[in-house]
Amino acid sequence: MARRRLVYEGKAKILYEGPEPGTLIQHFKDDTTAGNGTRKEVIEGKGVLNNRISEHIMGGLNAIGVPTHFIRRLNMREQLVRAVEMIPLEIVVRNLAAGSFSQRLGIEEGTQLPRPIIEFYLKDDKLGDPLVTEEHIIAFNWASQQDIDDIIALALRVNDFLSGLFLGVGIRLVDFKIETGRIWEGDYARIVVADEISPDSCRLWDIKTGRKLDKDVFRRQLGSLSDAYSEVATRLGIMPMPGEEKAGNRRGPKLVH
Ligand code: TMP
Repeated sequence: MARRRLVYEGKAKILYEGPEPGTLIQHFKDDTTAGNGTRKEVIEGKGVLNNRISEHIMGGLNAIGVPTHFIRRLNMREQLVRAVEMIPLEIVVRNLAAGSFSQRLGIEEGTQLPRPIIEFYLKDDKLGDPLVTEEHIIAFNWASQQDIDDIIALALRVNDFLSGLFLGVGIRLVDFKIETGRIWEGDYARIVVADEISPDSCRLWDIKTGRKLDKDVFRRQLGSLSDAYSEVATRLGIMPMPGEEKAGNRRGPKLVH
């Protein structure tokens, strides 16, 4: 393959120039970090699983009219996406208390929240991605009020879609993070879901046992991360299999009673 121009390298992914203007190739690495990059391991196969799981989720969102940057999966580790103007925020939606929310507010992990709660974090590794308010976002021009309204509407639709998707396979969606970007159509910017949605960026608990099936397995050293992610892919019916390019090898979602 011809050498590709690297556009950006992050902790878990690489972006290369795409085959056509306005496209990028998003490559999923096996690198796994926690504590803002202070702990790092290579977990074989994680990139393959996240590529597949993110494809499944973004494809599903596109199919119900929630716009995303995802175009199609190219191979085991790569997908073709639309180039977007990234908004420098991480948007977290929480259904149950967990993680930093529980710590900050002293609310026990697993407590059901009265409604989905949306938080914004500034994407800035040097500052450790601090929590910011809408006031900060508008004052510093990271996004406009209209952008924020669009992002909130998008995030709630993603929450409904993901909650239903995972509930159907016996998994509770505790919380998740998305990133968004703008696609310009003339003078009008449309906000779309970008980056990835995978067990790296969600909290997923088995409904019956409470087993964690997400990156907390790595953060909290609870066992094998690839076993947890494989379980998610298997339940969704998208576990990569030998000769996986044949569509007939897809098993379909696993019914959970
Ligand atoms: P938190 O409880 O640590 O704030 O995390 C909330 C959700 O956001 C959780 O599903 C994990 C996800 N997340 C990321 O995807 N990337 C991050 O850098 C952080 C801090 C959280």
